[in-house]
Amino acid sequence: MKKLEVLHFPDKRLRKIAKPVEKVNQEIKDIIEQMFFTMYEEKGIGLAATQVNIQKRLIVIDVSENRDKKLFLINPEIISLSDDLDTMEEGCLSVPGFYESVSRPKTVKVSSLDFNNKRIEFEANGLLATCIQHEIDHLNGKLFVDHISALKRNRIEKKITKLKKEGNLSSRKNTPNYKSAI
Ligand code: NI
Repeated sequence: MKKLEVLHFPDKRLRKIAKPVEKVNQEIKDIIEQMFFTMYEEKGIGLAATQVNIQKRLIVIDVSENRDKKLFLINPEIISLSDDLDTMEEGCLSVPGFYESVSRPKTVKVSSLDFNNKRIEFEANGLLATCIQHEIDHLNGKLFVDHISALKRNRIEKKITKLKKEGNLSSRKNTPNYKSAI
């Protein structure tokens, strides 16, 4: 299987709003499999289609230690968010090697289509809740760096642009807490 190319901040294509999937068919299932493959290869715990320049509302996630619990979301919708917040160090495959604290609702109730075009609902908390919100942000053209100060965001943008120019961006992927790169 071919690994899809992951776009990096500040690429403007990461700002596009993904379109809803009209029908879950074989093409969509194939894209999801390619996205899982890419996410595992990149050692991420989540990936949104926007990050691989596919403008469809598709997300893949695996927050398990053993990397064996695939979760996908098709046309996800947030039903409710808790008032309680959780602060976590977030990273992103589109912002390789940079981590910042972001506060988000602790619990999220979300719905998604399954492979039979049926809408299912479930509740998530902890890392999974953070991950789901981070990925839905991607589908809306938003990145975790939009949740931090403009000063920090500009600093990251400058560093990434420099690293990319020097051809050294990929080395950032091997920084220690890649576990939280979503
Ligand atoms: Ni991300």
